[in-house]
Amino acid sequence: MGTQAKSFENGAVPAMEVAGLTVKFPMRGGVFGKVQSYFTAVDNVSFTLEQGKILSVVGESGCGKSTLVKSLVGLVPMAAGEYRLFGEKVRNGKVLLGEDSAASKGAQKACRVSDLVQMIFQDPFSSLNPRQTVEEILTVPLVARGVTAAAASARARELLERVSIPVAALQKFPHEFSGGQRQRLCIARSLMVNPKILLCDEVTSALDVSVQAQILHLLDDLRNELGISILFISHDMQVVRALSDDVLVMYFGHVVEHGAADQVLVNPQHEYTQKLLASVPTIRR
Ligand SMILES: Nc1ncnc2c1ncn2[C@@H]1O[C@H](COP(=O)(O)OP(=O)(O)OP(=O)(O)O)[C@@H](O)[C@H]1O
Ligand SMILES: [Mg+2]
Repeated sequence: MGTQAKSFENGAVPAMEVAGLTVKFPMRGGVFGKVQSYFTAVDNVSFTLEQGKILSVVGESGCGKSTLVKSLVGLVPMAAGEYRLFGEKVRNGKVLLGEDSAASKGAQKACRVSDLVQMIFQDPFSSLNPRQTVEEILTVPLVARGVTAAAASARARELLERVSIPVAALQKFPHEFSGGQRQRLCIARSLMVNPKILLCDEVTSALDVSVQAQILHLLDDLRNELGISILFISHDMQVVRALSDDVLVMYFGHVVEHGAADQVLVNPQHEYTQKLLASVPTIRR
């Protein structure tokens, strides 16, 4: 990933910039199931995720948090908006390297968004293929990118160690692990392609409280050791407070507040954020 190393490690540019992002879902009806109208799940959302930082997205159920992150990895289409990764424009799942630099015009190269951005889901039980061994789960995406099987296997071993799972796990199947171990396997899988950004959608909600802390520490360590930037979705305001550098508050698809975690969580300006925090009395210092 030589081009990535060259283009994506300039600390001056934000890891991710989103401006005016809008996602609409078609509402179908009638006998023939025709599209009758559109529901706007994410409405004109703008934010910046700085390199090596954790930005949390909070808001009540159904406000569009998952839809927002899904649109960032192409799982749902964007209806409008500008999306940049490390200063480079993203279009149709491709990062257009050097499109803006006059020198490289004509010699444009692109890499996939998935080379830079990986998503980890809420449910570690359904996000691992039950018929694949851990080794297959970890190495297949890398081999598909042209990496040799031996190199992919070496990286799988390295990452298992990083997420504190014994290397003997390589020949096992997902059902042989606990929930917390499975989520660590999901994290290892997401790290295989050496991403620069992780999108974590309620990654601890399905786990026991004692295991939640291990996963959160692991994410924080990854940020500190690898400089990975994290977009973190959680309903747990105490976790958000402990982990985040910045916070984005969503309400019915809109951003109502965006700023430093200390500012937003201690001195919220918007009425909705105040209500959200008031419902969690233990959050105040
Ligand atoms: N594929 C879809 N088709 C139509 N509507 C959808 C689709 N996915 C989500 N929605 C709607 O978009 C809105 C936002 O959903 P989303 O899953 O993003 O919410 P959320 O903030 O992640 O909620 P939660 O905290 O419960 O996970 C909801 O009203 C939901 O019903
Ligand atoms: Mg969600």
